[in-house]
Amino acid sequence: MNYSIALVPGDGIGPDVVTQATEVLDAVGDKFGRTFNYVELEAGGCAIDHTGEPLPPETLEAAKQCDALLLGAVGGPKWETLPGNLRPERALLGLRAGLEVYANLRPAVLLPQLRSACPLKDEVLAAGNLQGTDGFDLLIVRELTGGIYFGKQGRSDDGNSAFDTETYSKGEIERVLRTAYAAAEVRRKKLCMVDKANVLESSRLWRELTQALSREYPHIETSYLYVDNCAMQLVRSPGQFDVIVTSNLFGDILSDEAAVLTGSIGMLASASLGAPASSLAQKGPRGIYEPIHGSAPDIAGRDIANPLAAILSAAMMLRYSFGLEKEALAVEAAVNAVLDAGLRTQDIAGRGDHAGNEKVVGTRKMGAAVLEALINEA
Ligand code: IPM
Ligand code: MG
Repeated sequence: MNYSIALVPGDGIGPDVVTQATEVLDAVGDKFGRTFNYVELEAGGCAIDHTGEPLPPETLEAAKQCDALLLGAVGGPKWETLPGNLRPERALLGLRAGLEVYANLRPAVLLPQLRSACPLKDEVLAAGNLQGTDGFDLLIVRELTGGIYFGKQGRSDDGNSAFDTETYSKGEIERVLRTAYAAAEVRRKKLCMVDKANVLESSRLWRELTQALSREYPHIETSYLYVDNCAMQLVRSPGQFDVIVTSNLFGDILSDEAAVLTGSIGMLASASLGAPASSLAQKGPRGIYEPIHGSAPDIAGRDIANPLAAILSAAMMLRYSFGLEKEALAVEAAVNAVLDAGLRTQDIAGRGDHAGNEKVVGTRKMGAAVLEALINEA
């Protein structure tokens, strides 16, 4: 079976890490008899430099023809002074809306090998932890193509005020809730819906719909938190959470908070999915897969960046868009093996429990080590 992948390496360390991810994809393809075809596309700052726009229409059109998209990162200081609608970040919003990937899955897992990288104290990690471990493994499902990011915005005629609008339709809320329930189904069967229903009308609609939908999922424990409380609970006892589902803006904020708790933002992958949750099991929805670490322009092209988040994003692509679970697990096992062997890029070095056994490597060596582990896996 052939799979077509749109590659958007983007800016900064994006190209460094995407190169490693495609090498791993090719190796997993060889091993399991799959062929991945790549179409390289420009978006973000590099596209601004070449075409004057962050998301050239050809990029979006070509991406729509592919089964999935692997993105490195966009942005950098060079483009920071451009007006809002011409900034590299616009490319992200345009791709999300254009490909209709409304559900953003952001796992935040505290890996045992990187245990001491977590900024939380032992007591905090243990508090309320129902996972039988002293770590945490949670998934934030963030609505991605609605809400205040895409609502009406503007300035008053006299320039004295500005506004952004949080609007959600029932359909937009329900589809992302279904994705979150489907995710909870194959995890620990807990879903926490996060809103600000004590103040916001749109949040009250989220809550009503969640209450109604929860009856279709009686075997899943549904709970509710206000977003301010959730922000606090995340640093008080992250182990209490399984799946958190929330709006675009709240999800943006909470996912950064969850990311820093893992102590290794260079390790975190993400998937943005468009199809109904029921089709996730088979060859699935079109998706955008990206590491969440950003473009880190200061270390771009220096063979320093951690490629593991991009590699793990490629694994999510195998799982969610292509339905290739065995292949996804093989990639994840290979990443685990190189961490077990003590290999670290500099961002995650010196923070593990076995700092003495660590070996600091660059981007290419880390990618090569994952390849080797993958090839040698039983
Ligand atoms: C993210 C980022 C983006 C967002 C920015 C770069 C537009 O923060 O993916 O979380 O806010 O969605
Ligand atoms: Mg963000």
